[in-house]
Amino acid sequence: MFHEITPPMQERMQYLEEVDSRDRTDGTEMPKRLRQIPPETGRFIALLAANCPKGEFIEIGTSAGYSSLWISLALKNRKDRFRTYEISTEKVALARDTFSLSGVSDRIELIEGDFLQKYTGIIEIAFCFLDCEKHLYEKCFDIVAERLVSGGMVVADNATNHFEFIKGMILKAENDQRFDCVTVPIGKGEFICRRK
Ligand SMILES: C[S@@+](CC[C@H](N)C(=O)[O-])C[C@H]1O[C@@H](n2cnc3c(N)ncnc32)[C@H](O)[C@@H]1O
Repeated sequence: MFHEITPPMQERMQYLEEVDSRDRTDGTEMPKRLRQIPPETGRFIALLAANCPKGEFIEIGTSAGYSSLWISLALKNRKDRFRTYEISTEKVALARDTFSLSGVSDRIELIEGDFLQKYTGIIEIAFCFLDCEKHLYEKCFDIVAERLVSGGMVVADNATNHFEFIKGMILKAENDQRFDCVTVPIGKGEFICRRK
């Protein structure tokens, strides 16, 4: 999968990594910052996604499409649908450029708007990357958890650096007999919740 990253995708990934790293030090205000996952988290979620059963792939919180590119690698030889949701119009425009420049527009459906209002129509989720505002995690999780297919998983970012903000969701998932869960200390911490 990773050996098949095309030069245009590699170039766009590098560009976004540079913008993201600059954002964190040059005083760019929070709503404009890309707030991306680091590359090792990208590799990790792509490997997880590639091993998920048949079903829909979704991402909540696209930003400029960096994490979506990693997930798209898992879909290269699969027919499953991948929908990514982003509320900011400015970020949607960046993500559209990302997908077009990287040659993956046909593999990714970019949905502008609030996931909590736009999720209708998703029925059987095989993989969900949850990476929006932390106070929304539990609400998003409730929607996704009910629609997970057997063997499907939710992967939530910021499980270690923002544990306090999302522990409600984590404890709820861990105490639910339908799921097996673990937090992996990669990047900012990935909480994995798999439906039995
Ligand atoms: C941490 S960033 C996502 C980074 C991206 N996953 C990556 O690693 O490249 C969070 C994004 O979620 C978006 N967002 C926040 N609330 C949302 C909502 N209710 N629905 C959809 N997107 C939302 C924000 O605008 C922001 O771009």
